Amino acid sequence: GGLHQKFKNRGKVYWGSCADPNTLNIAANANILKSDHGQLTPENSMKWDATESSRGNFNFGGADTLVNWAVSNGKLIRGHTLLWHAQLPGWVSSINDKNTLTTVIQNHINGVAGRYKGKIYVLLHLYFSYVFLPSEIFNENGSLRSSVFSNVLGESFVTIAFQAARRADGTAKLYINDYNLDSNNAKVQGMVSLVKRVNANGRIIDGVGTQMHLGAGGAGGAQAALTALASTGLDVAITELDIANAGSNDYLTVMRACLNTSQCVGITTWGVSDANTWRTGANPLLWDSSYRPKAAYSALISAL
Ligand code: XIL
Repeated sequence: GGLHQKFKNRGKVYWGSCADPNTLNIAANANILKSDHGQLTPENSMKWDATESSRGNFNFGGADTLVNWAVSNGKLIRGHTLLWHAQLPGWVSSINDKNTLTTVIQNHINGVAGRYKGKIYVLLHLYFSYVFLPSEIFNENGSLRSSVFSNVLGESFVTIAFQAARRADGTAKLYINDYNLDSNNAKVQGMVSLVKRVNANGRIIDGVGTQMHLGAGGAGGAQAALTALASTGLDVAITELDIANAGSNDYLTVMRACLNTSQCVGITTWGVSDANTWRTGANPLLWDSSYRPKAAYSALISAL
């Protein structure tokens, strides 16, 4: 079996990758998604700029293609992303009153989460997880990052967003997600406190995602990060793993950290082949630019 099947045999839910129409259209890439991955995250097609570039006008072209491909090939889907300060249209960032922004957030989340509700989870019994809700809201010191959301609404935007998502889809697991949660650092502590605070009056956040965009030798804190995030009592996931110029040990260290953390449901890499990565020139993935498995891939398979 491939990576996903072997990882699953070890008690995890999935090994996945991001994808979108542009990479699904590459046959070699699609074949690797089929053989070695059990979960897909839309790389760009479900972001705000792609789905609602002007107010109230939704476009689901790219996201539908990804979702339909995942469903027909039996892959789980993690939605990405309902709320993020980046790839955010200008019409949203220029809103400066609370009521308008609240309505706009609710309408956006209802539109995107409502689109894929039930179709996937109920009919096909797939685990549909909306992730990055919100995404990347912290500074490195654990305080709230400045964005239109925090500037206009303060921390309340987190609750507004999660409640809207819960209303739109009662079965999807709702995750909060950020980057640089790669060791037990101040940002991890800020995340843990926020999640506990927001969930204090009833659980609306189901899980915490750590992206883990790493460099070679940078995986040493992965176990400590997962352990700290799991102290929320929630599920945790590695949502965008890639490791610049990785050696086999870098990937092994991250995989073992997830295996050793019972609440870690799965690992998603941010792509398949070094030919298609946002980190140009970094060769951060498990297949080379000719879609051949790299040594790190073989090391993971052998360790499973
Ligand atoms: C990246 C995509 O991979 C690129 O194609 C796009 O140009 C920019 O966004 N954190 C995230 C992802 O949450 O959505 C980002 O994806 C990488 C960083």
